[in-house]
Amino acid sequence: IPVDTFDLVIFGGTGDLARRKILPGLFRRFIAGQMTGESRVIGAARSELDDAGYRDLVCEAIAEFGGAEKDSGRLEEFLARLHYVPIDATGEGGWSDLRDLMRDGVVRAFYFSVAPSLFGALAERLHSNDVAGPDARIVVEKPFGRDLGGARELNATLASHFDERQIYRIDHYLGKETVQNLMAIRFGNVLFEPLWNSHYVDHIQITVAETVGVGGRGSYYDKSGAMRDMVQNHLMQLLCLIAMEPPSQFEADAVRDEKLKVIRALQPVEPHQIVRGQYDAAAGAASYREDAENPRSFTESFVALKLGISNLRWAGVPFYLRTGKKLKARSSEIAVVFKDLPHSMFEGDEKRHRNILSIRLQPNEGIDLQVTIKEPGPGGMRLVDVPLDMTFADALGDEAEAPDAYERLIMDVIRGNQTLFMRGDEVEAAWRWTDPIIEGWEARSDVPKLYEQGSSGPEDAQMLIHRDGRRWRDIRG
Ligand code: BG6
Repeated sequence: IPVDTFDLVIFGGTGDLARRKILPGLFRRFIAGQMTGESRVIGAARSELDDAGYRDLVCEAIAEFGGAEKDSGRLEEFLARLHYVPIDATGEGGWSDLRDLMRDGVVRAFYFSVAPSLFGALAERLHSNDVAGPDARIVVEKPFGRDLGGARELNATLASHFDERQIYRIDHYLGKETVQNLMAIRFGNVLFEPLWNSHYVDHIQITVAETVGVGGRGSYYDKSGAMRDMVQNHLMQLLCLIAMEPPSQFEADAVRDEKLKVIRALQPVEPHQIVRGQYDAAAGAASYREDAENPRSFTESFVALKLGISNLRWAGVPFYLRTGKKLKARSSEIAVVFKDLPHSMFEGDEKRHRNILSIRLQPNEGIDLQVTIKEPGPGGMRLVDVPLDMTFADALGDEAEAPDAYERLIMDVIRGNQTLFMRGDEVEAAWRWTDPIIEGWEARSDVPKLYEQGSSGPEDAQMLIHRDGRRWRDIRG
């Protein structure tokens, strides 16, 4: 789909996110023909670089993180679209140069790929220096506050310079192809939606397991922990998409209204419904505390919790969520576990058979539906559970090759489509639910349980679900 001509200014244009994700992503969109006409990318950061210096930096970033080797012949063409302005986010230096670069009649977008403490200064200077223009769009990254108070303040700061329709709060999970597929599966098939409620669903599990640790970003992570870093945003968004009512249309506010209702209906989580963990040292591998360079850290690198949603659709259905670092495999999955049949007509069949719809978000994206069939052979009517497996790459071939989440989201900013971005009230509601949990830990000086690297998390996380007579799905890569 073609997009309008744009000027995208990346504040923090020499930083880690820009080099890893944003710039290589833009190159791939350029190759895909979506950087049409005279579109330009303007890096803005503190370093004293010129256009040529910036192009060298981007060239290296693409070589390192681009994954677009076969297209390297077109790199020069892309680099020619790049510019650079040294800028002082909190001072006056560079702003008039940036203003002189701006053009009328094209989409103006400003990506705040900087520390949140600079958001206010940037928003203010974009206006006072007349850089923004009336229809500018700004893109802001997480963390969006570290509690409700911080998020409110941030929302208020941005709102004093920009309308909500101009603010794009990124949660990169929403840009993942399979996450969007959650909506297609639920609302594009007649099969699932009639069963998607407490009459047929026993429980739902959401797992986002990672094998990486926090080495290298310990100073940020140690002040956040898994609850703030993953649950408040990414897992919350997955939960919303799985649990929300059907929006009347696939449109920004229709979708975000429904997500907000889910968050508002979340029950508070009691201390016995949540487990925190921290990875221990292993042979040859540092402990969390060593990675975070904080020998007395009580920050969690793992969370498992059980929650309930107080509405007609989900009353009584537990949702089990877990996420952690240094686990057994990199694997994100949502599993909808359906209830047992009320009666089995097959004599002697004492095994529990259950339909389970599992949506694999990454890697190996796909869905599988566990169904019960007759075990082949002459031995009578014995039943066995088998997966009806659809791996998207097998079913769709090359078409399954999805753009990276950031690519998709940046193009949505240019198109002016906010459907996959978080609205201010949504972020605040998520913090309103998260805050008491974290405050409880702080008040009790809660100590996270140590867990073995390469495991499925601490033993207590198993207990959390076992005592309800259920079990976690295996974490498989
Ligand atoms: C980020 C978190 O938002 O998401 C990281 O800050 C985490 O801690 C990452 O590793 C996971 O993203 P992905 O796309 O690798 O699943």
